[in-house]
Amino acid sequence: MSFDLVIRNANLVDGRIGLDIGCAGGRIAAIDVQLGGGFQEIDAAGQLVAPPFVDPHFHMDATLSLGRPRLNASGTLLEGIELWGELKQVQTAAEIVERALRYCDLAVAQGLLAIRSHVDVCGTLTGVEALLEVHERVKDYLDLQLVAFPQDGLFRSAGAESNLLQALDRGVDVVGGIPHFERTMQEGDASVARLCAIAAERGLMVDLHCDETDDPNSRHVETLARETLRHGLQGRVTGSHLTSMHSMDDYYVSKLIPLMAESRLNVVANPLINILIQGRHDTYPKRRGLTRVAELQATGLTVAFGSDCVMDPWYPLGTADMLDVASMAIHVGHLSSMEAMRRCFEAVTTEGARVMGLDGYGVAVGKRADLVLLQAGDPIEAIRTRAVRLAVIKAGRLVAESAPRESRLHLGARPERVTPRLT
Ligand code: FE2
Repeated sequence: MSFDLVIRNANLVDGRIGLDIGCAGGRIAAIDVQLGGGFQEIDAAGQLVAPPFVDPHFHMDATLSLGRPRLNASGTLLEGIELWGELKQVQTAAEIVERALRYCDLAVAQGLLAIRSHVDVCGTLTGVEALLEVHERVKDYLDLQLVAFPQDGLFRSAGAESNLLQALDRGVDVVGGIPHFERTMQEGDASVARLCAIAAERGLMVDLHCDETDDPNSRHVETLARETLRHGLQGRVTGSHLTSMHSMDDYYVSKLIPLMAESRLNVVANPLINILIQGRHDTYPKRRGLTRVAELQATGLTVAFGSDCVMDPWYPLGTADMLDVASMAIHVGHLSSMEAMRRCFEAVTTEGARVMGLDGYGVAVGKRADLVLLQAGDPIEAIRTRAVRLAVIKAGRLVAESAPRESRLHLGARPERVTPRLT
């Protein structure tokens, strides 16, 4: 059999080593030892070939806008929303497209080939128009899924529902919301019910910013699970953030998590943003705010990690590196056992793909030939070193490559070269 591309001597995430991966017609055609020749060949040299990184929670309409029109002085979620409201008044669709495309370039270089982005629908549909254009322009190399997101509240913002429905009519894929930002707890719950009903009527997925607060009484996730069951949306609904779970008492959580399991709710935590934004009203001790990752994983729920923001009103840093996201989760969530760290790698790859419902994702025969060669031997080393993406492959085609990281030393008797792998 002849292949369009063969990657030689690869280690896989599941622990198998020294395998060749043959790609043909945009799919993985064979995984075995010593495959036949390919039109193009890449020597993995015993390094890790993983499926691409997936970011199931991002805001591409806001990315790279840091400092416009001003910086977030308090660092809080609420000032970020206020600042974003000011930027929305002045930014054009062309500006959003330009920033988003620059971010997509960086994402591809980082082996990040699937992104679910929320797009604000309150007040204006400029962001929707811009990101639908971006979706079209990047579709050959990046899976961009859009969520219609009423940032200022479905009920709190006049015209939000009508704009949300228009966004869905135009082709936005997923129903979003933000119940903890509605005027009252009751209106928050009512927004969850309305949004799930819209999704059920249209056969769509749901992804709500849910309980992104330190208030243990913010319990919209309970309503989200209930409405998921009511509408038969099991497995198609995602609760993003769920940071209030960090502060809830254990007795309540012991009832909540089984309900979430019954409704097969997907969970997306955003470790970089959660550790930066939560606990801002605390003096000392300051709460971490990350949701209960290990407990949710233990019930068998899909738990993925997102990056949420890069250089925008909420977060001044970021490099589209999902390994950075996984590393933060390990630290904030005390997830440092070997097994827990491996699961953190899955949370930025396969679990995110599950949240997005990606077809043909994974390193197996018949799956899409979307692959990333990392300068690391295994997933834990990849996280530890924020491994360089030596080669990024989309549909069997090389779309990005980077030189390995290596420093030259000038220390006389010591070795002349050192790499982060230390091997
Ligand atoms: Fe978000």
